Amino acid sequence: MKFIPYGKQHIDQDDVDAVVETLRSDFLTQGPTVPLFEEKISKYSGAKYCIAVSNATAALHLVALSLLKEGDKVLTTPNSFLATSNAILYAKAKPIFIDIKKDGNIDLDLCEQKLQEDSTIKAIFGVAMTGLMEYKNRRRLRACNRCKR
Ligand SMILES: Cc1ncc(COP(=O)(O)O)c(C=O)c1O
Repeated sequence: MKFIPYGKQHIDQDDVDAVVETLRSDFLTQGPTVPLFEEKISKYSGAKYCIAVSNATAALHLVALSLLKEGDKVLTTPNSFLATSNAILYAKAKPIFIDIKKDGNIDLDLCEQKLQEDSTIKAIFGVAMTGLMEYKNRRRLRACNRCKR
């Protein structure tokens, strides 16, 4: 049977050396590598700020706490790991699942339809499964758009 890889990481010798160097250093949690990493990701992504956290769940939790308040309705995708909808629930907000298209991404036409039906929806949490997903934020929704690893 031929497998089509869903995603494949790229780890070269430089990456391995950097991890080994950190493991042998005095800092296994915070330390000089963390701000360096944040600075490089900021530059790479063009983001003004960057905060390194332990995993994707923690990152989504922070995003949800910063964008949402109790009772907010959030459009999101059922085609993701639990962390996506859990982050919304951690902020005491309400996930509303919107179906996906053939490419695996949330169906933005269905989102638009839902937004027209319900003007109290506050945010959209999408996951780009198969490449970048662009949401034209005409309604000034709060948005969390991220790429699957
Ligand atoms: C789309 C997506 N979001 C979040 C997570 C959670 O990632 P982490 O284990 O880094 O918290 C996963 C894990 O598989 C994922 O696939």
